[in-house]
Amino acid sequence: MANVKFYAGESFPLEMHKVRIIQKLALLPVEERGKAIAAAGNNTFLLQNRDVFMDMLTDSGVNAMSDRQLASMMYADDSYAGSETYTRLEDSVKNFFGCKYFLPAHQGRACENILSQVFVKAKPGSVVPMNYHFTTAKALTTVNGGVVEELIIDEGLKINSDHPFKGNMDIDKLNAVIDQYGVDNVAFVRMEAGTNLVGGQPFSLENYEQVSRICRAKKIPLVLDASLLADNLYFNKKREPQCKYMTLHQITLKFAELSDIIYFSARKLGFGRGGGICTSSSEIYLKLRELIPLYEGFLTYGGMSVREMEAIAVGLDETLDEDMISQGPIFIDYMVKELDKRGIPVITPPGGLGCHVDAGQFLDHIPQGQYPAGALGSAFFIASGIRGMERGTLSEQREPDGSEHFSHMELLRLALPRRVFTLSQVNYAIDRLVWLYENRKLVEGLKFVEEPKILRFFFGRLEPVSDWQTKLISKFRQDFGDSL
Ligand code: F0G
Repeated sequence: MANVKFYAGESFPLEMHKVRIIQKLALLPVEERGKAIAAAGNNTFLLQNRDVFMDMLTDSGVNAMSDRQLASMMYADDSYAGSETYTRLEDSVKNFFGCKYFLPAHQGRACENILSQVFVKAKPGSVVPMNYHFTTAKALTTVNGGVVEELIIDEGLKINSDHPFKGNMDIDKLNAVIDQYGVDNVAFVRMEAGTNLVGGQPFSLENYEQVSRICRAKKIPLVLDASLLADNLYFNKKREPQCKYMTLHQITLKFAELSDIIYFSARKLGFGRGGGICTSSSEIYLKLRELIPLYEGFLTYGGMSVREMEAIAVGLDETLDEDMISQGPIFIDYMVKELDKRGIPVITPPGGLGCHVDAGQFLDHIPQGQYPAGALGSAFFIASGIRGMERGTLSEQREPDGSEHFSHMELLRLALPRRVFTLSQVNYAIDRLVWLYENRKLVEGLKFVEEPKILRFFFGRLEPVSDWQTKLISKFRQDFGDSL
């Protein structure tokens, strides 16, 4: 954020924008919050947003837009084929990544579907090495007959660390996996910017250069998932010596030059709702292009509305402005440090996307099979009216033999959609987490009542293993009196 020093010496996040449109929020009494989470099967995805005070479920499609984005949506050119809007989006994406070709898709996982169909399905049993998986990227790889190997550096799986790039891929592990499966059985290598499931942790440009060198030498396509690139770029600039004097655009172009394919969810990158795939290879472009009209829509909209396409075009330009993209990381930095100071276990160093609470440690009395991160999500909603997202064992798929696949980390992710919340709201979230931490022994586990086979965290329903939620509500009343 802008270099503003405070006379008093202390520093706190300072927004470089003002709020011009607001949405009124409601905070239900704690008893009602208890009923709402029970009705949602203790799954925060199934809550009604009208029952939610701060929606920290995700940053996906809920980032605040700029005045320029909103204005652009008014002059969208609505046509199925060849709209001016599409041309503007295509120009914006090509300028942003410096690539030759762009294919539109309705969101990030649609891009993953197309890539998996083309590269994984064609080679049954092939492997996709990743710095770390994302839920949809993994599900689409396995559904198409592939295997995912996660090659993040060991430091990436440590909750607390001072490593600036915990999203880096371990180069030795990459070489070993390529040798193990054989070059011909590697569908592609996927690097995820702002590694989502390990706490929004970035990778360095240096690491990406190393991965790219190996891929180029072995002729394996390198795919960049750029959905969380804005945060990653911010950290490259702040934490990586070679990026200090580069502009955000120069860093982006360097990442693009090292990639064969880039895809992104524009629900994150570009502050809109949509997605797309970029490449400079005509061969790859032609292979992928066939599937766009089949699954997405005609090549000049790919399932997106023209209004969203206009907003993404402007949003990408604004992503290259540090003032526009730094609000997320600096608010997260503030929240993580304030919680850490109070002894609440959180992932460090602060990453992008949100603040990640270590439910494994917070609720170390709950076995992984009773979903501590899910239980924390449910308890935190009762305590605060804030909904977070479970990013732990519930978000994993069971093994083919039906046994649980315990996740590396049990996290409750409290996303900070960019530019949405004020600092006092963040302080409220911190306050309620502190209270919950002091009362953590009251929280117990959850068990499934309904468990879908694929991506079970989206619609699975659970219930508490005991009457712990009633006890938590009584304790809240005792401590807070008639407060909401
Ligand atoms: N890749 C990453 C790194 C993501 O974080 C997401 C979505 C996707 C791909 C898929 O994109 O939702 O547009 O289909 N992440 C959201 C989240 C859902 O809440 O973290 P999508």
